[in-house]
Amino acid sequence: MEKNIALIRGDGIGPEIVEQAVLILNRVAEIYGHSFRYTDVDMGGNAIDKWGEPLPQAQLQKCLDSDSVLLGAVGGPKWNDVPGPMRPEKGLLKLRAAMEVYSNNRPAKIWPQLAGASPLKPEIVEKGIDFMIVRELTGGIYFGSHETKQENGQAVATDILTYSEAEIRRIGRIGFETARKRRKKLCSVEKSNVLDSSRLWKKIMHELSEEYPDVTLTDMLVDNCAMQIVKDPSQFDVIVTENMFGDILSDEASMITGSIGTIPSSSLGSTTRGLYEPIHGSAPDIAGQDIANPIGTILAAAMLLRYSFDMAKEADAIEKAVSDTLDAGFRTADILPPHGAFQKVGCKQMGAEICARIQ
Ligand code: IPM
Ligand code: MG
Repeated sequence: MEKNIALIRGDGIGPEIVEQAVLILNRVAEIYGHSFRYTDVDMGGNAIDKWGEPLPQAQLQKCLDSDSVLLGAVGGPKWNDVPGPMRPEKGLLKLRAAMEVYSNNRPAKIWPQLAGASPLKPEIVEKGIDFMIVRELTGGIYFGSHETKQENGQAVATDILTYSEAEIRRIGRIGFETARKRRKKLCSVEKSNVLDSSRLWKKIMHELSEEYPDVTLTDMLVDNCAMQIVKDPSQFDVIVTENMFGDILSDEASMITGSIGTIPSSSLGSTTRGLYEPIHGSAPDIAGQDIANPIGTILAAAMLLRYSFDMAKEADAIEKAVSDTLDAGFRTADILPPHGAFQKVGCKQMGAEICARIQ
C-alpha cells in the first residue's frame, strides 16, 4: 500500500523520538511491501520561531492532505511568555479541531516486563492494569472562550466549559463501542454533583446505554476516579470522559503503568485519517541528549498502522518487537530499575534494537 504520512517532529525531544518511529515505519514498509511517503509539518514552538504562529494554514493543509499524522510533542519554556492564542499548544488544539478528531484513546496497560517500574504496590499491580481512557478531544473548556480582563483594579480570568448533546453522544458511542470490543464495562466519569455540563453528560450516557444492553455502564465522579485509579485500577475496562478530565486522568493512568514515556494515543473522528502521538510532552530538560524513551511514539506509529491503514499484522509486529526488546533487557533511563540485568540505552539505540526485532 502507498500512504502519505504527515510528520510533526515538534519541539524538545519531539524530533528525536519521531526519528526512531520513522526508522521503524520504514522497516515495516520494507518487510511488508508498503511505501510510506513523509511530509514534514512545522507546528509548535519551532513554527512560531519560523513563521510567527504555531500552525500556519499551509502547514495545517499538509496534515489535512495526508492519510494520517504522526506527532512527537510541542511546547517548551522558550515560549512560556508567548500570549495565549499564539502558544505552541494552540497549534495542537487548532490541528485537533481542524482534523475533527474528537475521540482520543489512551491505553493504560502495564507491560509485564515493566511491572517493577510502577509506583503502586506489587499486590495492586498483580491484579492487572489494562484499561482504555476515551477522552473527548475537541470540546469542553479547551475550546470555550478564554478571557482575562481588568475589574476593579485586578485581573479576572474566565474559561468557559460547554458541551452540546451531540458532542456528548458521539463520544459516548465511541466509549460504548470500545467497551463492546473489550470486557464490556464502561465507566462514565464526570462531576455531576457540581457542573451542569456533567449532568447533561451523565443523562446522555444513560440514554445511550439503552442501545448497548451488552455493556455495563457505571458513573463515577472525577475526584473519586482519580482515587480509584491508584487504589484499584483493575476495576476499569473503558473510561469515557470530557476533555480536561481526560487530560488529567490519562497522565495519572500512564504513571501507574511505569512510565509516561511508553504510552501512545490515537485521535480519530469520522474518517480513517487520525492523529497519533505519545501522551507525554516535549520534555525540554532532556532534549538533544539522546536519553528520551521513543517507545510511546513507536507504539503511536503502530496504532496509526492499525487504526488508519488497517494494517493489523504490521502493528502487531511493532508491538511484539517492543516487547521482545524489553524482554532482552534494554531500558531507557526512565524505565531502568535500580538493580538487575538490564542494559541502559539511549533513544537511538532503543529505536535500533526495536527495529532489528521487527519480523
Ligand atoms: C495532552 C497534552 C495537551 C492537552 C497539551 C499539550 C495542550 O497535555 O495531549 O494531553 O492538554 O491536551
Ligand atoms: Mg496531557
